[in-house]
Amino acid sequence: MTETTHLLGLLLGTEQDWPTAFESIVRHLGPVSDAAGTAHRYDVERIAIEPFDLRATPRHDLVIDRLAYWYYHPREWLKKVALMDDVYLLNSPFTFQSMEKHAAYCAMMRLGLKVPDTVLVPYKNPREHAKYAPTAAQYNRPFDLDAIAERLGYPIFMKPYDGGAWVGVSHIRNREELHRAYDESGQRLMHLQKAVAGYDVFARSLSIGAETMVMKFDAEQPMHARYSVTHDFLDAGTGEETVTIGRLVNAFFRWEFNSCETLIKDGGVYPIDYANACPDVAITSLHYYFPWAMRALVRWSIFCTATGRRPRLDLDTRRYFDIGDRADLSYTEKLVAYRGLADDYFEVEHYRDFCASRLPHLDGVVLEWVEGAEFDRLLVDTVRATFPVHEHDHFVAHYRGLLGAWARDERGRLG
Ligand SMILES: Nc1ncnc2c1ncn2[C@@H]1O[C@H](COP(=O)(O)OP(=O)(O)O)[C@@H](O)[C@H]1O
Ligand SMILES: [Mg+2]
Repeated sequence: MTETTHLLGLLLGTEQDWPTAFESIVRHLGPVSDAAGTAHRYDVERIAIEPFDLRATPRHDLVIDRLAYWYYHPREWLKKVALMDDVYLLNSPFTFQSMEKHAAYCAMMRLGLKVPDTVLVPYKNPREHAKYAPTAAQYNRPFDLDAIAERLGYPIFMKPYDGGAWVGVSHIRNREELHRAYDESGQRLMHLQKAVAGYDVFARSLSIGAETMVMKFDAEQPMHARYSVTHDFLDAGTGEETVTIGRLVNAFFRWEFNSCETLIKDGGVYPIDYANACPDVAITSLHYYFPWAMRALVRWSIFCTATGRRPRLDLDTRRYFDIGDRADLSYTEKLVAYRGLADDYFEVEHYRDFCASRLPHLDGVVLEWVEGAEFDRLLVDTVRATFPVHEHDHFVAHYRGLLGAWARDERGRLG
């Protein structure tokens, strides 16, 4: 039997929890044999930051990145290994410009999704640039902020065009709040967006390769209580529509690890935030869904490397726009067509077959691991690192309860 070894690289900031989980699951899983009988062995490495020669050959086959969105040395390393070495990346740094919400809004509007009406307004305060003042004097047109807000219709949201983590987001109900928020925006570039007021459900979907989990979310809660454990909170059609939107956004921008936020009101699905291509997968926020996320990350990493899936750096926008631009197709028909392209991109069928035939033991490995002492230690350590001392006991019990519930459900599912 032939053998081959793959190195999976993790590019990390401060987090310890999910990398430890990922490493343990890969270690417990052992080698994976493909249909041709080759055994694929896996090593996981946390990538160090050090000088690199642009002509050096990297040792990694695949890299999961949660660092390069703010740290530019590893970001440039990712570009180098993508362009020169075909290393498989979750996600490609070439999509960083589209991680601005703005690009994603534009593309999804053209594709006919129900993105709420959105206006980009110029900077409130001058940018730090020597040419700003003379340029603005010549070209910046005065504009009527109130008129824009009135045309959109209150309530609205003002938020950074490239935002994340709620920074600089304000809910605006009247002129006074509008002007205060704009004055405070300073040198930050802002969208005004019509609010989906009084929505029924906030659904946040997390996608990892060909898998998507749609979760009920409450943005008002503290981090540990945002996802609730509930399964049938959307009817089947709306659930499928939400999955399709997440998968479409990801296939369009080549994001393979991303979360997508949609608001559901009167049966309509309104995407508001879906450029989160460095999504939070901490145990303390995902809790019940954490084992699913880890299993999906391991599965997708193994699928990509064992089948030799080629990374694709180029976008394929025209095929999507050709559907989006057609006047004779309804919204629903377009979604069906996009879903076809997206499922094709993610090789959904092939992935399912691969998981069933090559990784049938992974479910059991993950379940046993979650029920074991190693995971409990990780959970306790993570709680200790995350919450103040007087809350440790409470949160250890809280998370043990949620993960215990997952294990019971999983045992039921596996029969
Ligand atoms: N158009 C909207 N309608 C209703 N709520 C919104 C809208 N836009 C943003 N919000 C609320 O504001 C929060 C933050 O906005 P979001 O676009 O998700 O920014 P961030 O990238 O900071 O998460 C959302 O989770 C949601 O609760
Ligand atoms: Mg958001």
